[in-house]
Amino acid sequence: MLEELSLHILDIGMNSLAAGATVLSIEVLESARRNWLIIRVRDNGRGMDAATLRRVLEQRRSSTKSKRRKGIGLGLALLRQTAEMCGGRFHIRSAPGQGTTVVASMRLNHVDRPPLGNLDDTVLALCAANPDVEIRLRYRTDSTTFQFSSKEREHHEPRTTQTSQREGTAAGCVA
Ligand SMILES: Nc1ncnc2c1ncn2[C@@H]1O[C@H](COP(=O)(O)OP(=O)(O)O)[C@@H](O)[C@H]1O
Ligand SMILES: [Mg+2]
Repeated sequence: MLEELSLHILDIGMNSLAAGATVLSIEVLESARRNWLIIRVRDNGRGMDAATLRRVLEQRRSSTKSKRRKGIGLGLALLRQTAEMCGGRFHIRSAPGQGTTVVASMRLNHVDRPPLGNLDDTVLALCAANPDVEIRLRYRTDSTTFQFSSKEREHHEPRTTQTSQREGTAAGCVA
């Protein structure tokens, strides 16, 4: 398990970029009222064919070491493990030429749920390394929504001081 969910998001976002995405949308919904934390990463990259998707979805129980030996990736399997361990679900929708959507949910108050970590830094890192890709972030809680796009200078009005600070940070990655 990775220590922070932001690191999972970074990893899943890197998959999208490796798949040639020109638009990458990261959504995080954190609802204390519903006791959910939901992560959705969507891209318009090349997508996965059925065989790849099956291979990715099947790699859930084997150990890290054996996966490394076989050269099979870990990113999606790790996120799945985290989601399922934290009372949530994991889902991938993907098809060749149709992009990919990865959704992981978990119970917000689950004892094993990793902290979100620094989502701003994650998005900044992705933006800095991929200036031509439109990277969107939408972070929503019960009371506030924060949205950012690396290709838009017009942002939604911040509704709280905290949102405003976040906006300032992430907006720094607009070229
Ligand atoms: N967003 C995506 N678009 C297209 N293919 C993907 C995407 N995410 C994952 N894949 C495919 O699934 C494989 C496994 O991904 P992952 O578990 O992150 O491991 P790794 O990136 O180390 O290979 C990738 O190698 C790639 O073939
Ligand atoms: Mg990966």
